[in-house]
Amino acid sequence: MNDFVKNITGFVIESVKSEFQTELSTDEVAGLLEVPPDSKMGDYAMPCFVFAKQLKKSPKIISETLAGKFQPTEYIKDVVSQGPYLNFFVLPGKFIETVLNEVMQKGANFGKSETGKGKTVVIDYSSPNIAKHLAVHHMRSALIGNAIYNLHAALGYKCVGINHLGDWGTQFGKLIVAYKKWGEDEEHTPNDIATLNKLYVRFHKDEENAASMEDEAREWFKKLENGDEEAARLWKLFKDISMNEFEKIYKMLDLKFDYYTGESFYNDMLDDTVEKIKKTGLLELSDNAQVINLDKYDMPPCLLRKKDDASLYATRDICAAEYRKKEFNFTKMIYVVGSEQKLHFRQFFKALELMGNDWVKDCHHVDFGLVKFKDEKMSTRQGKVVLLEDLLNESIRRAGKIIEEKNPNLESKDEIADFVGIGAIIFSDLKNRRIKDVNFAWEDILNFDGETGPYVQYTRARLNSVIEKHGNKPNPNADFSLLKEDEEFILAKTLEQFPVAIKRAAESFEPSILINYLLDVCSAQNRYYNNHRIISDDAQLTEARIALINCSRQVIGNGLLIAGIKTPERM
Ligand code: ARG
Repeated sequence: MNDFVKNITGFVIESVKSEFQTELSTDEVAGLLEVPPDSKMGDYAMPCFVFAKQLKKSPKIISETLAGKFQPTEYIKDVVSQGPYLNFFVLPGKFIETVLNEVMQKGANFGKSETGKGKTVVIDYSSPNIAKHLAVHHMRSALIGNAIYNLHAALGYKCVGINHLGDWGTQFGKLIVAYKKWGEDEEHTPNDIATLNKLYVRFHKDEENAASMEDEAREWFKKLENGDEEAARLWKLFKDISMNEFEKIYKMLDLKFDYYTGESFYNDMLDDTVEKIKKTGLLELSDNAQVINLDKYDMPPCLLRKKDDASLYATRDICAAEYRKKEFNFTKMIYVVGSEQKLHFRQFFKALELMGNDWVKDCHHVDFGLVKFKDEKMSTRQGKVVLLEDLLNESIRRAGKIIEEKNPNLESKDEIADFVGIGAIIFSDLKNRRIKDVNFAWEDILNFDGETGPYVQYTRARLNSVIEKHGNKPNPNADFSLLKEDEEFILAKTLEQFPVAIKRAAESFEPSILINYLLDVCSAQNRYYNNHRIISDDAQLTEARIALINCSRQVIGNGLLIAGIKTPERM
C-alpha cells in the first residue's frame, strides 16, 4: 500500500468511525478503492456501498458526509462527493515522486506483496494424455495455469504446480493389445507419439475381432492395475515416449512443473477411496458398476468403478484431491481445464462434498474456451490435429522474417525471433477473458502495431535503447518535481496500478487482467514518448524523464515475466 492509498484509507476509516462508529480494517477499505473511468472525476474513487450496507444509510449520504469532513493533506488536494462515490484528487507532483521512488526501490519486486504469505495454492494444469499428441487445449491450460501460478507466487503464496498426466485408464489396455499384435512391424514400432497413435487407430480398425480385442484390452488394463510386470513395462514405454515429446514443447514454452504426478500415481490409493465412499453410504450399484448417485443434484451418476472393477477418471480425481489436501494443505486448489469438462468437475466436487470434505469450497474449476484456427490448412492438417511443435516453430519462423525485414543488423536474431514468436502465442492466449474462444490468425498475433506480444516487447526494447542512448544509469535521486506534463502524471498513475492488477488477476484467475494492464502501460508510455522528447538539452529534466521511463520499463518487464513471456533487450 503506497502513501496515497494509506492516506485515503486512513481518512475514510477515521471519518467513518467518528461519524458512524464502525470497525473496518485498513486492508478491507484499501481493497475497495477504484480508479474512476474518467480522470476528470478524480484520481481515486471510494465506493460507499459497503458502508451503506453496514450503517443502514444511503451511500450518497455517506459519501456527502465524508466529503464534508475532508481537510487537504500533503497527498490529497480535494475530495468530491459524486452520488455513491467519494472521489479523491491527488497532488500530481507528490504522487509522481512517491510512485517512482517505490518502483525504483523495489525494482524486480515492484508489484509483489505478501497477501498470500503462509498459504498454499495447488494448480493442476496442462495435464495431457499419454500416447496422444499434446493438444492445443493442453497448451492453453499450460499457459493460463503458468500465469496463474506466477500471479499467486507474486502475492507470496507457496505454489504447487501439478501436471496431472492422463497416464491411466482402459485405453492403455487397448494400446498393449495393439502393441503385442502389431508392435513389431515397421509401421507400428512405437518410437514417437505418431506411431502410438497409429497403434491405437489400428486397434479400432480391426472390427472383425473387435469384441474379443475389447475383452483382451480390459484384461490387460486389469493386469496393469494389479501390478503385472509386462503390462507395467509396456505402459512405461508408452509413457516415456510421450513424455519425451511433451517435454520438448514445455521447453519451448519455458514451462516447468513441480510435480508430474499423473493419474497412475493414485492407483494404489484408489481402493481406500472407494472404501471410504462405501462407508459413508454413498456407494450404489448400477448395472454392476459402482457409482455415486447424483439424481438429487440433477447430474448423472459419478462413476467410480466399472463392472470389471476398473477405476475411472473421476475415481482418480476424487482420490487425487484428498491426497493433495493431506499432502499440501492448500488454501486454494485450481484446476485449469477446458469448459467441456464442466460436468465432470461439478460431479466430483459434489462427490467430495458429500464425503464430508468441507474444503471442496476452496476448489475451483478454472475453465477456458477453444482455440479456433482461421487458417484452413492448419485445422485440417494431420487429420484435424495441429501439431504444437509445428505451430510454435512456424511462429518463430514468421517472427524471424519480420525482424529480418525491420532490423537486419540486429545481433542474436535467432534468440530474439524465439522470444517474439513464442511470446506472441502466449500473449494472444492470455489476452482475452479465458472463457472466450481464441480466434487464432498469424496476422493478428504477430502484428507489431496491434495489441500483441511483439508490440509490448517492442515498447520495452525501445525504452531500453533510449536509456542506453542517454548513457548514464537512471538516477533515483532525479528531481521528479520537474515532471509536470499530463502524460507524465497519467503514466505514473498507470504504473501505480500494477500491484492492483496483479491482485485482481490472481483473485479472479484471469491473466487477461494483467495482459490488458500491460497494454495500458504501453499505451500511456507511447503517448508520452510520441508527445515529448525524453532526451533534451535540459539535463535535469532529461534525468527525471529517464527515471520515469525506466520505471515503465521495469513494470513492463515484471509483468511479462509473470505472464511467462520472455522479452528481448533489443528488437
Ligand atoms: N487429462 C485430462 C484431459 O486431457 C485433463 C486432466 C485435468 N486435470 C484433472 N485433475 N482432471 O482431458
